[in-house]
Amino acid sequence: MEQKRYGHFDDQHREYVITDPQTPWPWINYLGNEDFFSLISNTAGGYSFYKDAKFRRITRYRYNNVPMDNGGRYFYIKDGDTVWNPGWKPCKTPLDFYECRHGMSYTRITGRKNGIEASVLFFVPLKKWAEVQKLTLTNQSKEVKQLKLFSFEEWCLWNAATDMENFQRNFSTGEVEIEGSTIYHKTEYRERRNHYAFYHVNAPIQGFDTDRETFVGLYNAFADPQAVMEGKPRNSHAHGWSPIASHYIEVTLQPGESKDFVFLLGYIENEQDEKFEAPQVINKKKAHALIAELDTTEKVDKAFAALCEYWDALLNIYKVKTGNDKLDRMVNIWNQYQCMVTFNFSRSASFFESGVGRGMGFRDSNQDLVGFVHQIPPRARQRIIDIASTQFPDGGCYHQYQPLTKRGNNDIGGGFNDDPCWLIFGTVAYIKETGDFSILDEMVPFDNQPGTEVTLFEHLKISMDHVIKNLGPHMLPLIGRADWNDCLNLNCFSWDPNESFQTTENVSEGTKAESLMIAGLFVVTGKDYVALCKKIGKADEAARMQQAVDAMIEAVKKDGWDGEWYLRAYDFYGRKIGSNECDEAKIFIESQGWCTMAEIGAEDGMVAKSLDSCKKYLECEHGMVLNNPAFSKYIYEYGEISSYPEGYKENAGIFCHNNPWVIIGETLAGRGNDAWNHYAKILPSYVEEKYQTLHKVEPYVNCQMVAGKDAFRPGEGKNSWLTGTAAWMWYTVSEFILGIKPDYDGIRIDPCLPETATDYTVNRKFREAEYEITIHPNGSQKGVKSITLDGKPIDGTVIPYSAGKHTVEVTM
Ligand code: BGC
Ligand code: NOJ
Repeated sequence: MEQKRYGHFDDQHREYVITDPQTPWPWINYLGNEDFFSLISNTAGGYSFYKDAKFRRITRYRYNNVPMDNGGRYFYIKDGDTVWNPGWKPCKTPLDFYECRHGMSYTRITGRKNGIEASVLFFVPLKKWAEVQKLTLTNQSKEVKQLKLFSFEEWCLWNAATDMENFQRNFSTGEVEIEGSTIYHKTEYRERRNHYAFYHVNAPIQGFDTDRETFVGLYNAFADPQAVMEGKPRNSHAHGWSPIASHYIEVTLQPGESKDFVFLLGYIENEQDEKFEAPQVINKKKAHALIAELDTTEKVDKAFAALCEYWDALLNIYKVKTGNDKLDRMVNIWNQYQCMVTFNFSRSASFFESGVGRGMGFRDSNQDLVGFVHQIPPRARQRIIDIASTQFPDGGCYHQYQPLTKRGNNDIGGGFNDDPCWLIFGTVAYIKETGDFSILDEMVPFDNQPGTEVTLFEHLKISMDHVIKNLGPHMLPLIGRADWNDCLNLNCFSWDPNESFQTTENVSEGTKAESLMIAGLFVVTGKDYVALCKKIGKADEAARMQQAVDAMIEAVKKDGWDGEWYLRAYDFYGRKIGSNECDEAKIFIESQGWCTMAEIGAEDGMVAKSLDSCKKYLECEHGMVLNNPAFSKYIYEYGEISSYPEGYKENAGIFCHNNPWVIIGETLAGRGNDAWNHYAKILPSYVEEKYQTLHKVEPYVNCQMVAGKDAFRPGEGKNSWLTGTAAWMWYTVSEFILGIKPDYDGIRIDPCLPETATDYTVNRKFREAEYEITIHPNGSQKGVKSITLDGKPIDGTVIPYSAGKHTVEVTM
């Protein structure tokens, strides 16, 4: 079926260009790289925060609203009787032209109406705690235009959770100050907060509003604020209720004339003893300084150029040229970009995650790191230390921590028994990329308690030990609250809808629930751990862990194999899950992925059979589903997994995150055609081409879940942007398909390709070296025959590391 299209890729500018504002779902972008962040939709909806989307929310956003995506940074242009917005919303006045370009950490939205063009460039300059909104108004008509321009932002009262619920207090606390063209938001600054926000424009204003109801009118909406419709600002001063910031500017434009306005949404922190410049008056020194850095078009353009250069450099680290645009644009641009965003946000703030519920996940953040580590290794290093600091002395760990405090989240606690292994996964990736073994000697506390520090290496050791010390009756890992699949809750028997599947654990005593996913994960990370120990001269520890890994392999072969595939788990009573003997959900993807990645029983044909079973039972047009057949009823011994209707989320959805596990399994088995077929099915650029309307969510990034074959609408995507899929897609394509794998002593070359693959080149910066690697597949799916480094043949498949520029030729 021919589907309607809403946009297209512009690879040259590294942008996705949206040409119709009425996308099937808001298509968003992220601004900011380190401290100050914003989400922005293709109609300029969204919000900003400093570091933590829960505790430092700067502007307000209403989730799940009617209409969708309501609230954002809006510019209202009143031209005679016509009021319009460059991003179409919220007035929805039909535009003569609309375009939204989402780029690398910036978004440009352009609208035209009745001879006026309004183009807004949104971005967060590097190292600045502010969002720039550079509005350019151009008169393309033949007449002089007298326009009335209103800006609009709505303040959030800082804590995004209480902002949405504690109205008996909130409606009395709001405070602002107005000074020239700057509106300051200072709610709670009089007491414990040492931060405020401001909204500034670099031009004189002819009016303003700071009280929402006065500006909008109690019976009007964002689509028709009274002040705008009447063309008259109220100069309102908010006291309590809902403070906003709106500037009013009268603009005259001659035919052909263009004017820039720089709007700045900023965030400031002051020292406790420097909070006020006079009683009740906030100290604005830092705000003035920040404004002065960004108060002209020239300064803003410079800051924007610096941001673009920053992204140039990041995306220059790994660049592929295959001649297949759909692959190249994902590898060179969007997949890497999404990795940065998931590294920054974990699973906290998206259009599917309100930013209040989840902080940084222990397992999530370690995985995200693998997609990001080549970009900014020092940040990855710090992240590893932060994550490890939330571990407990027995190797268990908090499942999540808050980015602002870096403290473990007590609401969710620990007990997810896969978590510890991921620390090895993340740390090994970091060391292989950087060669920085010194991280292993860093002193890292437990549960952030000063005085408890041990080396990071010790944290890795107790992580492995945590698995070994928690084995079940089949000598397989006890699952705890859940493994990677948060919804397979085998120790939570719940009939109470008010209980949380994540935290209820009412039958863990005497549990026999074991996980084959953790078994595979343990073998994969255990092998990595053993290799690391050998590398740093800890032969005894390597031998000790090798034994544990071997034992785990035997346990899987003995009690984890179902005949055609790996079992998924044993339940509380020791009954099989994911077996041909089960009525439903006979096969699960996670254990196929991890046990094939671990190559358990490859010599006995287990890997090949498992991979074949994935094709036979899990694969469909849109990817591989998580389990098959889907659960058709709630099974209270299994928990949340069976709570989802068939084909959604963890109940037989295509949980994109775990497709790459099987794909990597395929590459290790040398099955390049199969690996590629699976990969292309969930590669956004292929999906983009095929079905924008059905898929619904952003076509330039992966989403967590695509409705599976048992769903009502197979192919519909949800939970876009913040998903471990990003890192796994990157890891898969960069290291296992294209075959450029960082290793301790150099770069290992081991591609696994479809037989149709033609010659390609990867430019890879690695530590102090730069490699230009050309691969000649010669119709082969796997197996490197020979490699030359700077014209000279080398032995084996690892290019030994040495600084400088090198050329590598690889023949398969
Ligand atoms: C979702 C999972 C998620 C978990 C924890 C569940 O409802 O289905 O994907 O990991 O919540 O937030
Ligand atoms: C999303 C969570 O962020 C992740 O940690 C989990 O593994 C998957 N859901 C699967 O349940």
